[in-house]
Amino acid sequence: MYTLTYESVATKKLKTVEMEELLENARANNERDDITGCLIYYKGGFVQLLEGSKKNITELYDKIKKDPRHTNVTLFSDDEISKRTFPNWGMAYYPIDENNTSKYEYEQFKRNLTLLADLVTPTNVTSKQFWKKIKTMVAEPPM
Ligand SMILES: Cc1cc2nc3c(=O)[nH]c(=O)nc-3n(C[C@H](O)[C@H](O)[C@H](O)COP(=O)(O)O)c2cc1C
Repeated sequence: MYTLTYESVATKKLKTVEMEELLENARANNERDDITGCLIYYKGGFVQLLEGSKKNITELYDKIKKDPRHTNVTLFSDDEISKRTFPNWGMAYYPIDENNTSKYEYEQFKRNLTLLADLVTPTNVTSKQFWKKIKTMVAEPPM
């Protein structure tokens, strides 16, 4: 099996319903193609981890790179793996939208995500990089 993680910049702010559409479609495709992973949307940027067969992941990543909903798609780690880190997630999604959430909820959410990042034991370099990125992102002061 194979895993990769990338970051990208949303070309425009996605509405909740647009994000739901994206996820619904992604989850259906991923289930069909035995792909799992996690998607984070934060301050107009995406970070995604994908895992599955090398063929399926490579094909999906090629599609994702061409998707007009985001740009500057940058791969920051990939690996051959023997074990998934999100085995039960067609596409886990953590929305972090500071504009649509109360300050308290937002702070709580960041704390939870940081906690989660500390709790998971990444079994490969790519998932390690993924969680590291999440922690750095969440730790940055709001713009
Ligand atoms: C940030 C981001 C993450 C995406 N993640 C997935 C994904 O995990 N699975 C997927 O099938 N499509 C994902 N897509 C959508 C693909 O780029 C593409 O639109 C979709 O695979 C086409 O599906 P279709 O062949 O069913 O029309 C993502 C798009 C973006 C912008």
